[in-house]
Amino acid sequence: MASLLSYCTIYPLCICATYKFQEVGRMIGVTLLKQFGWKADLRNPDLEIFVHLNDEYSVVGIPVFRLPLSNREYIKTAGLRSTIAWAMASLAEISAGAFVLDPMCGLGTILLEAAKEWPNVHYLGTDVCDSQLQGACENVKAADLMDKIELLKASVIALPFPSESIDVVISDVPFGKKFTITKDIKLVPDILREMERVLHVGGTVVLLLSQDPHKYVDGPIANYVENDASVNITSDGTNKTVTATDSNPREENGSPQSISSNKNMEREPHDNKMKCFGSLVLVNSHGVSLGKTNAFICKYKKMPTSEVKSILK
Ligand SMILES: C[S@@+](CC[C@H](N)C(=O)[O-])C[C@H]1O[C@@H](n2cnc3c(N)ncnc32)[C@H](O)[C@@H]1O
Repeated sequence: MASLLSYCTIYPLCICATYKFQEVGRMIGVTLLKQFGWKADLRNPDLEIFVHLNDEYSVVGIPVFRLPLSNREYIKTAGLRSTIAWAMASLAEISAGAFVLDPMCGLGTILLEAAKEWPNVHYLGTDVCDSQLQGACENVKAADLMDKIELLKASVIALPFPSESIDVVISDVPFGKKFTITKDIKLVPDILREMERVLHVGGTVVLLLSQDPHKYVDGPIANYVENDASVNITSDGTNKTVTATDSNPREENGSPQSISSNKNMEREPHDNKMKCFGSLVLVNSHGVSLGKTNAFICKYKKMPTSEVKSILK
C-alpha cells in the first residue's frame, strides 16, 4: 500500500476536549506508518480510512463506494443531507394513507426521501420562500413524485390546514446560519403551537433542531403547560405512565451513518421525565452530525389533553 488518507470524523461529545481531530488523524497516520509502513497521502490516496470516536466506542471503517451514502440519483438539487432526511422520516411512524406535512420544506428533501420509502401517503410541503418552493417543485418533478407531493406557499405559523387534519409533521427548523430565521418564526414555541394545532391526537412531530433550540425545548418551552411540564414516563407502579414510545423498528435497524447511537446523544430529558409542549410530549432526541455542525432530531407525540392534564395533577 503506497499511500493512505487518514480521514477522521469526530463528534463533539467525544475526546475533542483533549485532542483536535487533525491531531487524532496525525496520531493514526503515524501508528499506521509504524505498524504497516503505510504513508499518509491526503491528495491522492489509495485508501480512505474513516474513524468515528465518541465517549463509548470507536468505529474504524473503509468506504466501499466512491459516492457518499447521501447521494441520490432522484434528487436534482440537494437541501438537507438526505441521510438525515431519511432518518427523520423513519422516526415519524408514517403509515399508508397518512397526511404528512413539512411546513418549512425548502427544496423538499424530507418529502422526497419519505415519498420514495413510504409511497402510499399524501405529502404536503409549505414554505414562505418562492425560490425554495420553485426548487422543491423542480425536485419533485425530477423525482417523478408530482402525484404524491403537493407544495403550497404558507407560513409555518399560519398553516392553511384545518385543526387535527395532519398525521405527521416533519421539519428542518432553520438554525439562522444558511437560512435566515424570519421574524415570524423567531420563537420555537410559535412553530410548535401551530404544528400542535394541525396535528391530530396520536400524531407525531419530528424536528431537526440546532443545539440552542434543543436546549430551549428542554427548558422554558415546558412552561406552556401550566404547573409542571414534566411527565413521568417510567412505569414504577406508583406513577402514571405516558405510553409515547417509538414503535418503528427502523429506528433500531436502519439508522444511517450520521446518526449517533451513542447513549449520551440519545437524550431522555431530565432522567426519565418527559417534557410537554401543550399536548406535544417530547419522546426522545438523537444527536446527529451535519458535517460542520451538530443538531438534534427531536420526536414528539400529541397526547389527548385530558391525559396530559390528568398526568400533571
Ligand atoms: C433549513 S431550511 C429547510 C431545508 C429543507 N429541509 C431542504 O431540504 O431543502 C428552512 C426553510 O424554512 C423556510 N422558512 C423560513 N421561515 C419560514 C416561515 N415562517 N414559514 C415557512 N417556512 C419558512 C425557509 O425559506 C427555508 O426554506
